[in-house]
Order: sequence, then structure tokens, then C-alpha cells
Amino acid sequence: MGMIENFIAGIPKAELHLHIEGTFEPELMFEIARRNNLQLKYNSIEDLKLAYNFNNLQEFLDIYYSGADVLLEEQDFYDLTWAYLQKIHSQNVLHTEIFFDPQTHSLRGVPFSKVITGIHRALEDGQTKLGISSRLILSILRHLSEESAFQTIDDALEYKSWITAIGLDSSEKGHPPSKFQRIFEKVLEEGFLTVAHAGEEGPPEYVWEALNLLQVSRIDHGNRSLEDHTLVTELAMRKIPLTVCPLSNLKLKVVNDMTIHPLAEMLDKGLMATVNSDDPAYFGGYVNENYLAVAYALNLSKEQIVQLATNSFIASFLEEKKKLLMIEKVQHYYLSE
Ligand code: ADE
Ligand code: ZN
Repeated sequence: MGMIENFIAGIPKAELHLHIEGTFEPELMFEIARRNNLQLKYNSIEDLKLAYNFNNLQEFLDIYYSGADVLLEEQDFYDLTWAYLQKIHSQNVLHTEIFFDPQTHSLRGVPFSKVITGIHRALEDGQTKLGISSRLILSILRHLSEESAFQTIDDALEYKSWITAIGLDSSEKGHPPSKFQRIFEKVLEEGFLTVAHAGEEGPPEYVWEALNLLQVSRIDHGNRSLEDHTLVTELAMRKIPLTVCPLSNLKLKVVNDMTIHPLAEMLDKGLMATVNSDDPAYFGGYVNENYLAVAYALNLSKEQIVQLATNSFIASFLEEKKKLLMIEKVQHYYLSE
């Protein structure tokens, strides 16, 4: 390993933008399909991986949802989540905030209770066996109706203490945050925090809507915010975190080349940017590979890596005392390296 690789591998960090269904590695997908007596559309792991060639968000989502279709039992959700936790444990991720998409499963007849119990049980084991703290974010599929979203929130209320925030994901174009204004008003009243994917493929106007109508604590992606100077000023002034996903952006052609990825510009403009993996099984890397890709392509300094790791804790939903402890760990690592 080179110097910067070692530095990235060892630095304590949090992950804040991770879809648990996006951690479904082909090997586990075939294993779970087999034990559930389901047939995948692909004959082999190699065939499946050949399909991981996306021109945009929608082409990815079609494959991502079909992969998730083999998840049926509580144990499937446990195994999926546990595999992810073991992986990030090896990458010095100390805290993770994961999205799950209950509608992907409830529409196939898999009850909400099985999905959340499997994930939650693995997260508890992540804390006790690996020392990884976590938060769970329920994400609403924006291509579906407001009615379906209300049903999902109803299901979630029974498990309120396991869920920290409500998010918004899936096909962005044509599905603005305003479509879910009433949903987010309800969940804010219920005491949930809110986040939303915005400005990945959609225009800066969608980021404004996420801020003003959904009262989000963070923007997921947010790349296209840079097209609007007033918006950049607002995000910087309010220290609204952006959960940026470099390898995802490259694979979904949100950016055409990593050397022109906007992360460096975001940091230069004083934005609270963080580095995350989004759907690591599909985009070719977990969080460390994402740090490394931008470090190489944008020639990031050690100090910028430290800034990104520090931001990951500042931007997290950890309690303030724990945040400070984690930030001290990052500083200690920096000074000892
Ligand atoms: N669901 C999983 N990954 C996503 C992404 N990058 N954008 C929108 N929805 C998603
Ligand atoms: Zn995402």
C-alpha cells in the first residue's frame, strides 16, 4: 500500500450515505436466491456483473431493485446488513447511517416487520461485536405515490425508536421534493429528522425544495447545487452537509471523469462535504475506495482527507458528546501518522 492508501485505510471515519440494498454482493445474492428457491435473471456471477454498466441513475435502479427482489426473510436482511458491517469494520468506519427502502420489499409482500427487524438485529450486533455505532434512515421511493409513502410511514411508526430519520431516494427527475411535502410535514411532527437525495440528476431547484419544504438536515449528493451561487451561499452559511458519493457519480455518469469531480470545489467553497459509497456492491468500492479515488484524481492533501473524515462525524446524527470524541480520534490519528 502507498502512503496515502495507508493514511485513508486507517483514518477513523463515518459513512452517512449507504443504501443497505446497495451492499448486496453478487455472491450473497446468488446464495440467498438459492435458499429462497428463486431464479435470478442471470446465470452466473460473471453474467450479473456484466450488467453493471450504467448510463444513468434509472439504468442502475432497474438492476438494483431486481437484485433486492430475492430478499424475503428476516435472516436475509440480517445477513445483508451483517456482511456490510464486517466489511466496513475492516475499513475503520466507526459509525454508519444506513438507508433502507421498505417499499421495495412491501410491494412484493415482504412485511415491514421482517425487513426492519433483520436490519436492526444486525446493527445491534455491529455495536456489541464490532463497536460500530449506527443510525437507520427510512427512505421513501419518490417514483411511487404519496399514498404509498403514507402507508410506509404508518408501518414505521410501530418501530419509531429504531428509526432516526426519513429520506427520499430513487428516480429524481420528474419527482421533485414538493411531491412529498405532506409526508415530510407529518414525519417532522412525529419527531423524525429528514434528509433527501437532491441535485444528483435533478436541478438546484430540487435542493431548494428539500431545504425549504422538507426541512432536511442534510442533502444526499447535492452535486448540482454548484450551479446556483445563492444556493451555495445558503448551504455554506447553514453548514448543511452534502453526502457526496464519488464512485457512484462516476458509474452513473453524474460526472464524466473523476478528475472533474466537484468535491474539491465544494470544500473550497466552504461546504460541509463528506465522502460515502452509496451502493458499494454496484459501484466498485466501499468508503475507503471512494476516498482513494478522489484523493488520486483531485490530488487531495492529507489535511483535506482529515477534513473529510472530521466532516463525516460533524455531519452525523450522533449526540454532540460522541461527535467530539470521534473528532478527537481523527485528530489523534492525524498527529500520530
Ligand atoms: N437508491 C439507491 N441509490 C440511489 C441513488 N444514487 N440515487 C437515488 N436513489 C438511489
Ligand atoms: Zn443514494
